[in-house]
Amino acid sequence: MKYDFDEIIDRRNTDSVKWAVGENELPMWVADMDFKTAPEILDVLVDRAKHGVFGYSTIKKEWNEAYIGWWSRRYGFEMKADGLIFCTGVVAALSSIVRKLATPNENVLLQTPVYNCFFSSVINNGCRVLENKLIYDGEGYSIDFDDLERKLADPQTSLMILCNPHNPVGKIWDKETLCRIGELCFKHRVTIISDEIHCDITEPGYKYTPFMSASELNRKTGVMLIAPTKTFNLAGIKTSAVYTEDPVLRHKIWRGINTDEVGEANAFATVGAIAAYNKGDEWADEMRAYVFENRKIVEEYIKNNIPQIKAVPGKATYLMWLDISKVGKSREVAAFIRKETGLFLTAGAVYGESGDGFLRLNVACPKELLYDGLQRLKTGIEKFSEK
Ligand SMILES: Cc1ncc(COP(=O)(O)O)c(C=O)c1O
Repeated sequence: MKYDFDEIIDRRNTDSVKWAVGENELPMWVADMDFKTAPEILDVLVDRAKHGVFGYSTIKKEWNEAYIGWWSRRYGFEMKADGLIFCTGVVAALSSIVRKLATPNENVLLQTPVYNCFFSSVINNGCRVLENKLIYDGEGYSIDFDDLERKLADPQTSLMILCNPHNPVGKIWDKETLCRIGELCFKHRVTIISDEIHCDITEPGYKYTPFMSASELNRKTGVMLIAPTKTFNLAGIKTSAVYTEDPVLRHKIWRGINTDEVGEANAFATVGAIAAYNKGDEWADEMRAYVFENRKIVEEYIKNNIPQIKAVPGKATYLMWLDISKVGKSREVAAFIRKETGLFLTAGAVYGESGDGFLRLNVACPKELLYDGLQRLKTGIEKFSEK
Protein backbone atom coordinates (compact mmCIF):
# COMPACT_ATOMS: atom_id res chain seq x y z
CA MET A 1 0.00 0.00 0.00
CA LYS A 2 1.18 3.49 -0.82
CA TYR A 3 -0.67 5.07 2.13
CA ASP A 4 -0.41 4.17 5.80
CA PHE A 5 -3.76 3.46 7.41
CA ASP A 6 -2.14 1.73 10.39
CA GLU A 7 -0.77 4.97 11.81
CA ILE A 8 -2.42 5.82 15.13
CA ILE A 9 -3.19 9.52 15.30
CA ASP A 10 -3.98 11.04 18.66
CA ARG A 11 -7.24 12.90 18.12
CA ARG A 12 -7.79 13.82 21.75
CA ASN A 13 -7.64 17.56 22.46
CA THR A 14 -8.45 18.43 18.83
CA ASP A 15 -12.10 19.36 19.53
CA SER A 16 -13.15 16.07 17.94
CA VAL A 17 -16.76 15.15 18.71
CA LYS A 18 -15.91 11.47 18.47
CA TRP A 19 -12.92 11.64 20.80
CA ALA A 20 -14.49 13.84 23.51
CA VAL A 21 -14.43 10.79 25.78
CA GLY A 22 -12.77 9.64 29.00
CA GLU A 23 -9.10 8.65 29.11
CA ASN A 24 -9.65 4.92 28.91
CA GLU A 25 -12.58 5.08 26.55
CA LEU A 26 -12.45 3.99 22.91
CA PRO A 27 -14.95 5.78 20.64
CA MET A 28 -16.24 3.78 17.67
CA TRP A 29 -19.44 5.71 17.12
CA VAL A 30 -19.62 9.04 15.12
CA ALA A 31 -19.17 8.54 11.37
CA ASP A 32 -15.74 9.99 10.79
CA MET A 33 -12.48 8.12 10.29
CA ASP A 34 -9.39 7.96 12.47
CA PHE A 35 -7.20 8.26 9.36
CA LYS A 36 -5.46 11.39 8.12
CA THR A 37 -6.94 12.62 4.88
CA ALA A 38 -5.05 11.99 1.63
CA PRO A 39 -1.67 13.79 1.50
CA GLU A 40 -2.67 15.17 -1.91
CA ILE A 41 -5.56 17.00 -0.20
CA LEU A 42 -3.61 17.97 2.87
CA ASP A 43 -0.94 19.70 0.74
CA VAL A 44 -3.58 21.82 -0.96
CA LEU A 45 -5.25 22.77 2.33
CA VAL A 46 -1.91 23.64 3.94
CA ASP A 47 -0.97 25.83 0.95
CA ARG A 48 -4.30 27.58 1.21
CA ALA A 49 -3.79 28.12 4.95
CA LYS A 50 -0.26 29.46 4.38
CA HIS A 51 -1.61 32.08 2.01
CA GLY A 52 -2.90 33.69 5.15
CA VAL A 53 -5.81 35.72 3.81
CA PHE A 54 -9.22 34.26 4.54
CA GLY A 55 -11.69 36.56 2.87
CA TYR A 56 -14.92 35.50 1.15
CA SER A 57 -14.68 32.75 -1.47
CA THR A 58 -16.37 32.21 -4.82
CA ILE A 59 -17.34 28.84 -6.25
CA LYS A 60 -15.15 28.49 -9.32
CA LYS A 61 -15.89 26.28 -12.30
CA GLU A 62 -13.11 23.84 -11.30
CA TRP A 63 -15.37 22.86 -8.39
CA ASN A 64 -18.16 21.78 -10.78
CA GLU A 65 -15.62 20.04 -13.03
CA ALA A 66 -14.12 18.07 -10.14
CA TYR A 67 -17.54 16.59 -9.20
CA ILE A 68 -18.34 15.89 -12.84
CA GLY A 69 -14.99 14.15 -13.36
CA TRP A 70 -15.34 11.90 -10.30
CA TRP A 71 -18.87 10.68 -11.14
CA SER A 72 -17.98 10.20 -14.79
CA ARG A 73 -14.74 8.34 -14.10
CA ARG A 74 -15.95 6.18 -11.24
CA TYR A 75 -19.65 5.66 -11.93
CA GLY A 76 -20.12 6.43 -15.63
CA PHE A 77 -22.66 9.11 -14.71
CA GLU A 78 -22.35 12.30 -16.75
CA MET A 79 -23.48 15.32 -14.76
CA LYS A 80 -24.20 18.76 -16.14
CA ALA A 81 -22.18 21.64 -14.73
CA ASP A 82 -25.22 23.83 -14.09
CA GLY A 83 -27.00 21.09 -12.13
CA LEU A 84 -24.65 21.41 -9.14
CA ILE A 85 -25.29 23.72 -6.20
CA PHE A 86 -22.74 24.21 -3.42
CA CYS A 87 -23.90 23.74 0.16
CA THR A 88 -22.05 23.73 3.49
CA GLY A 89 -22.99 20.12 4.22
CA VAL A 90 -25.36 17.33 3.33
CA VAL A 91 -27.47 17.78 6.44
CA ALA A 92 -27.58 21.55 5.88
CA ALA A 93 -28.84 20.87 2.33
CA LEU A 94 -31.33 18.29 3.50
CA SER A 95 -32.83 20.55 6.15
CA SER A 96 -33.01 23.45 3.73
CA ILE A 97 -34.74 21.29 1.12
CA VAL A 98 -37.27 20.02 3.66
CA ARG A 99 -38.02 23.63 4.70
CA LYS A 100 -38.41 24.73 1.09
CA LEU A 101 -40.32 21.81 -0.39
CA ALA A 102 -42.54 20.63 2.48
CA THR A 103 -44.83 22.68 4.67
CA PRO A 104 -45.37 21.97 8.39
CA ASN A 105 -47.39 18.85 9.11
CA GLU A 106 -46.68 17.29 5.73
CA ASN A 107 -45.07 13.85 5.68
CA VAL A 108 -41.49 13.08 4.76
CA LEU A 109 -40.94 9.39 4.10
CA LEU A 110 -37.86 7.68 5.61
CA GLN A 111 -36.78 4.06 5.34
CA THR A 112 -35.91 3.04 8.86
CA PRO A 113 -33.64 2.27 10.61
CA VAL A 114 -31.81 5.24 9.11
CA TYR A 115 -29.27 7.98 9.85
CA ASN A 116 -30.58 9.92 12.85
CA CYS A 117 -30.23 13.42 11.36
CA PHE A 118 -32.90 12.52 8.78
CA PHE A 119 -35.37 12.49 11.67
CA SER A 120 -34.18 15.83 13.07
CA SER A 121 -34.17 17.50 9.65
CA VAL A 122 -37.82 16.55 9.27
CA ILE A 123 -39.05 17.16 12.81
CA ASN A 124 -37.18 20.43 13.36
CA ASN A 125 -38.95 21.83 10.32
CA GLY A 126 -42.39 20.99 11.62
CA CYS A 127 -42.94 18.02 9.32
CA ARG A 128 -43.86 14.44 10.21
CA VAL A 129 -41.72 11.37 9.73
CA LEU A 130 -43.55 8.64 7.87
CA GLU A 131 -41.64 5.39 8.27
CA ASN A 132 -41.33 2.75 5.61
CA LYS A 133 -39.65 0.16 7.80
CA LEU A 134 -37.06 -1.93 6.02
CA ILE A 135 -37.63 -5.68 6.28
CA TYR A 136 -34.95 -7.58 8.19
CA ASP A 137 -34.80 -11.33 7.56
CA GLY A 138 -31.96 -12.11 9.94
CA GLU A 139 -29.37 -11.79 7.16
CA GLY A 140 -30.04 -8.48 5.48
CA TYR A 141 -32.56 -5.80 4.57
CA SER A 142 -35.07 -5.25 1.78
CA ILE A 143 -37.86 -2.81 0.99
CA ASP A 144 -41.53 -3.41 1.73
CA PHE A 145 -42.81 -1.95 -1.54
CA ASP A 146 -46.52 -2.35 -0.72
CA ASP A 147 -46.07 -0.29 2.41
CA LEU A 148 -43.90 2.19 0.51
CA GLU A 149 -46.54 2.74 -2.17
CA ARG A 150 -49.33 3.11 0.38
CA LYS A 151 -47.36 5.80 2.20
CA LEU A 152 -46.26 7.64 -0.93
CA ALA A 153 -49.91 7.68 -2.05
CA ASP A 154 -50.92 9.62 1.06
CA PRO A 155 -51.55 13.13 -0.31
CA GLN A 156 -49.86 14.55 2.79
CA THR A 157 -46.56 12.96 1.73
CA SER A 158 -44.42 15.45 -0.15
CA LEU A 159 -40.85 14.18 0.13
CA MET A 160 -38.94 10.93 0.40
CA ILE A 161 -35.34 10.79 1.64
CA LEU A 162 -33.40 7.80 0.38
CA CYS A 163 -30.06 6.76 1.84
CA ASN A 164 -28.02 5.32 -1.05
CA PRO A 165 -26.00 3.40 0.09
CA HIS A 166 -27.81 2.98 3.36
CA ASN A 167 -26.47 4.07 6.74
CA PRO A 168 -26.62 2.14 9.10
CA VAL A 169 -27.47 -1.17 7.41
CA GLY A 170 -24.66 -0.99 4.83
CA LYS A 171 -26.85 -1.82 1.84
CA ILE A 172 -26.12 -0.82 -1.76
CA TRP A 173 -29.50 -0.41 -3.48
CA ASP A 174 -29.48 -2.01 -6.93
CA LYS A 175 -30.56 -0.36 -10.16
CA GLU A 176 -33.92 -2.14 -10.29
CA THR A 177 -34.79 -1.00 -6.76
CA LEU A 178 -33.81 2.57 -7.57
CA CYS A 179 -35.94 2.53 -10.75
CA ARG A 180 -38.93 1.21 -8.82
CA ILE A 181 -38.58 3.88 -6.13
CA GLY A 182 -38.28 6.55 -8.82
CA GLU A 183 -41.43 5.33 -10.57
CA LEU A 184 -43.46 5.23 -7.37
CA CYS A 185 -42.35 8.71 -6.33
CA PHE A 186 -43.19 10.06 -9.76
CA LYS A 187 -46.60 8.34 -9.79
CA HIS A 188 -47.52 9.96 -6.49
CA ARG A 189 -45.73 13.28 -7.14
CA VAL A 190 -43.36 12.86 -4.21
CA THR A 191 -39.97 14.54 -4.60
CA ILE A 192 -37.14 12.11 -3.99
CA ILE A 193 -33.92 13.23 -2.33
CA SER A 194 -31.11 10.67 -2.48
CA ASP A 195 -28.37 11.13 0.11
CA GLU A 196 -25.28 9.54 -1.47
CA ILE A 197 -22.60 10.70 0.95
CA HIS A 198 -21.39 7.11 1.59
CA CYS A 199 -21.29 6.18 -2.11
CA ASP A 200 -17.54 5.68 -2.52
CA ILE A 201 -17.08 3.42 0.48
CA THR A 202 -18.08 0.09 -0.99
CA GLU A 203 -16.46 -3.32 -0.91
CA PRO A 204 -13.78 -3.49 -3.61
CA GLY A 205 -15.43 -5.05 -6.66
CA TYR A 206 -18.86 -3.56 -5.83
CA LYS A 207 -20.14 -0.20 -7.00
CA TYR A 208 -23.08 1.87 -5.97
CA THR A 209 -25.54 3.15 -8.59
CA PRO A 210 -26.22 6.90 -8.53
CA PHE A 211 -29.98 7.28 -8.09
CA MET A 212 -30.24 9.56 -11.11
CA SER A 213 -28.32 7.16 -13.35
CA ALA A 214 -30.78 4.31 -12.83
CA SER A 215 -33.36 5.52 -15.39
CA GLU A 216 -34.29 8.51 -17.53
CA LEU A 217 -37.18 9.19 -15.16
CA ASN A 218 -34.88 9.23 -12.14
CA ARG A 219 -32.56 11.59 -14.00
CA LYS A 220 -35.43 13.99 -14.72
CA THR A 221 -37.01 13.92 -11.29
CA GLY A 222 -34.31 13.10 -8.73
CA VAL A 223 -32.16 15.17 -6.41
CA MET A 224 -28.80 13.80 -5.24
CA LEU A 225 -26.82 15.01 -2.23
CA ILE A 226 -23.13 14.25 -2.68
CA ALA A 227 -19.87 15.15 -0.96
CA PRO A 228 -16.23 14.10 -0.58
CA THR A 229 -16.44 14.35 3.21
CA LYS A 230 -17.04 10.70 4.23
CA THR A 231 -14.66 9.29 1.63
CA PHE A 232 -11.77 11.60 2.50
CA ASN A 233 -12.52 12.36 6.16
CA LEU A 234 -13.23 16.04 5.51
CA ALA A 235 -16.50 16.54 7.43
CA GLY A 236 -14.98 19.43 9.36
CA ILE A 237 -14.42 21.58 6.26
CA LYS A 238 -18.17 21.72 5.59
CA THR A 239 -18.59 21.01 1.93
CA SER A 240 -21.18 19.25 -0.24
CA ALA A 241 -23.24 19.55 -3.40
CA VAL A 242 -26.85 19.19 -4.44
CA TYR A 243 -27.38 17.83 -7.94
CA THR A 244 -30.61 18.01 -9.89
CA GLU A 245 -31.44 18.49 -13.55
CA ASP A 246 -34.99 19.77 -13.16
CA PRO A 247 -34.62 23.54 -13.61
CA VAL A 248 -37.67 24.43 -11.51
CA LEU A 249 -36.65 22.19 -8.63
CA ARG A 250 -33.09 23.42 -8.88
CA HIS A 251 -34.14 27.04 -8.70
CA LYS A 252 -36.30 26.38 -5.64
CA ILE A 253 -33.54 24.46 -3.86
CA TRP A 254 -30.99 27.11 -4.74
CA ARG A 255 -33.29 29.80 -3.35
CA GLY A 256 -33.78 27.78 -0.16
CA ILE A 257 -30.06 27.27 0.32
CA ASN A 258 -29.44 30.96 -0.19
CA THR A 259 -32.25 32.05 2.11
CA ASP A 260 -30.89 29.74 4.79
CA GLU A 261 -27.38 31.15 4.19
CA VAL A 262 -25.80 27.74 3.74
CA GLY A 263 -24.58 28.36 0.20
CA GLU A 264 -21.28 30.15 0.88
CA ALA A 265 -18.02 28.24 0.98
CA ASN A 266 -15.37 28.75 3.64
CA ALA A 267 -11.76 29.13 2.46
CA PHE A 268 -11.12 25.35 2.48
CA ALA A 269 -14.45 23.96 1.31
CA THR A 270 -14.02 24.11 -2.45
CA VAL A 271 -10.25 23.70 -2.68
CA GLY A 272 -10.53 20.58 -0.47
CA ALA A 273 -13.30 19.10 -2.62
CA ILE A 274 -11.44 19.87 -5.85
CA ALA A 275 -8.22 18.25 -4.59
CA ALA A 276 -10.16 15.21 -3.35
CA TYR A 277 -11.99 14.56 -6.60
CA ASN A 278 -9.05 15.37 -8.88
CA LYS A 279 -6.27 13.69 -6.95
CA GLY A 280 -7.87 11.25 -4.53
CA ASP A 281 -8.66 8.12 -6.58
CA GLU A 282 -5.77 6.02 -5.38
CA TRP A 283 -6.14 7.01 -1.74
CA ALA A 284 -9.89 6.34 -1.84
CA ASP A 285 -9.32 2.86 -3.30
CA GLU A 286 -6.72 1.96 -0.69
CA MET A 287 -8.95 3.30 2.08
CA ARG A 288 -11.84 1.11 0.83
CA ALA A 289 -9.62 -1.94 0.76
CA TYR A 290 -8.44 -1.24 4.33
CA VAL A 291 -11.94 -0.59 5.65
CA PHE A 292 -13.29 -3.77 4.06
CA GLU A 293 -10.43 -5.80 5.54
CA ASN A 294 -11.54 -4.36 8.87
CA ARG A 295 -15.14 -5.36 8.19
CA LYS A 296 -14.03 -8.92 7.43
CA ILE A 297 -11.94 -9.02 10.64
CA VAL A 298 -14.98 -7.97 12.66
CA GLU A 299 -17.24 -10.53 10.96
CA GLU A 300 -14.77 -13.35 11.62
CA TYR A 301 -14.01 -12.26 15.17
CA ILE A 302 -17.68 -12.09 16.09
CA LYS A 303 -18.42 -15.43 14.48
CA ASN A 304 -15.60 -17.12 16.39
CA ASN A 305 -15.67 -15.26 19.70
CA ILE A 306 -19.01 -13.58 20.38
CA PRO A 307 -21.69 -16.10 19.38
CA GLN A 308 -24.41 -14.13 21.20
CA ILE A 309 -24.39 -11.46 18.45
CA LYS A 310 -24.12 -11.26 14.66
CA ALA A 311 -22.62 -8.78 12.20
CA VAL A 312 -25.19 -8.05 9.50
CA PRO A 313 -23.38 -8.49 6.15
CA GLY A 314 -22.97 -5.19 4.32
CA LYS A 315 -21.28 -4.07 1.11
CA ALA A 316 -21.07 -0.36 1.89
CA THR A 317 -19.98 2.15 4.52
CA TYR A 318 -17.46 1.78 7.33
CA LEU A 319 -20.35 1.40 9.76
CA MET A 320 -21.16 -2.12 10.86
CA TRP A 321 -24.58 -3.09 12.05
CA LEU A 322 -24.48 -5.63 14.83
CA ASP A 323 -27.53 -7.71 15.65
CA ILE A 324 -27.67 -7.91 19.45
CA SER A 325 -31.36 -8.79 19.64
CA LYS A 326 -30.63 -12.01 21.55
CA VAL A 327 -28.69 -10.02 24.17
CA GLY A 328 -30.87 -7.03 24.98
CA LYS A 329 -32.14 -3.57 24.07
CA SER A 330 -29.65 -1.32 22.32
CA ARG A 331 -29.55 1.65 24.71
CA GLU A 332 -29.12 -0.57 27.73
CA VAL A 333 -26.48 -2.77 26.10
CA ALA A 334 -24.53 0.22 24.67
CA ALA A 335 -24.53 2.02 28.02
CA PHE A 336 -23.42 -1.15 29.82
CA ILE A 337 -20.56 -1.83 27.38
CA ARG A 338 -19.37 1.76 27.69
CA LYS A 339 -19.46 1.70 31.47
CA GLU A 340 -17.80 -1.70 31.80
CA THR A 341 -15.21 -1.53 29.01
CA GLY A 342 -15.01 2.08 27.78
CA LEU A 343 -16.05 1.06 24.25
CA PHE A 344 -18.43 3.70 22.91
CA LEU A 345 -20.83 2.42 20.23
CA THR A 346 -24.10 3.89 18.98
CA ALA A 347 -27.34 2.32 20.20
CA GLY A 348 -29.41 1.21 17.21
CA ALA A 349 -32.56 2.83 18.66
CA VAL A 350 -31.06 6.19 17.64
CA TYR A 351 -31.89 5.22 14.03
CA GLY A 352 -35.53 4.47 14.74
CA GLU A 353 -37.45 1.98 16.84
CA SER A 354 -36.69 -0.88 14.44
CA GLY A 355 -32.99 -0.41 15.17
CA ASP A 356 -33.40 -1.27 18.81
CA GLY A 357 -31.94 -4.77 18.55
CA PHE A 358 -28.68 -3.45 17.06
CA LEU A 359 -25.49 -1.55 17.76
CA ARG A 360 -23.54 0.48 15.19
CA LEU A 361 -19.77 0.03 15.12
CA ASN A 362 -17.47 2.36 13.15
CA VAL A 363 -14.51 0.38 11.75
CA ALA A 364 -12.68 3.26 10.00
CA CYS A 365 -9.66 3.07 12.27
CA PRO A 366 -6.19 1.51 12.41
CA LYS A 367 -6.26 -2.25 13.03
CA GLU A 368 -4.67 -1.89 16.46
CA LEU A 369 -7.67 0.14 17.63
CA LEU A 370 -10.03 -2.27 15.91
CA TYR A 371 -8.63 -5.27 17.81
CA ASP A 372 -8.81 -3.31 21.06
CA GLY A 373 -12.47 -2.50 20.31
CA LEU A 374 -13.29 -6.12 19.53
CA GLN A 375 -11.85 -7.34 22.81
CA ARG A 376 -13.85 -4.73 24.69
CA LEU A 377 -16.96 -5.74 22.78
CA LYS A 378 -16.47 -9.39 23.70
CA THR A 379 -15.96 -8.53 27.38
CA GLY A 380 -18.98 -6.21 27.40
CA ILE A 381 -21.33 -8.71 25.74
CA GLU A 382 -20.16 -11.56 27.98
CA LYS A 383 -20.62 -9.52 31.14
CA PHE A 384 -24.01 -8.27 30.01
CA SER A 385 -25.13 -11.83 29.25
CA GLU A 386 -24.02 -12.99 32.73
CA LYS A 387 -26.03 -10.27 34.50
C1 LIG B 1 -26.32 9.44 5.46
C2 LIG B 1 -25.57 10.63 5.96
N1 LIG B 1 -25.84 11.85 5.46
C3 LIG B 1 -25.19 12.96 5.89
C4 LIG B 1 -24.21 12.88 6.87
C5 LIG B 1 -23.53 14.12 7.34
O1 LIG B 1 -23.22 14.95 6.28
P1 LIG B 1 -22.63 16.41 6.51
O2 LIG B 1 -21.49 16.28 7.47
O3 LIG B 1 -22.20 16.85 5.15
O4 LIG B 1 -23.73 17.24 7.05
C6 LIG B 1 -23.92 11.64 7.43
C7 LIG B 1 -22.92 11.52 8.51
O5 LIG B 1 -22.82 10.53 9.19
C8 LIG B 1 -24.61 10.49 6.97
O6 LIG B 1 -24.36 9.27 7.46
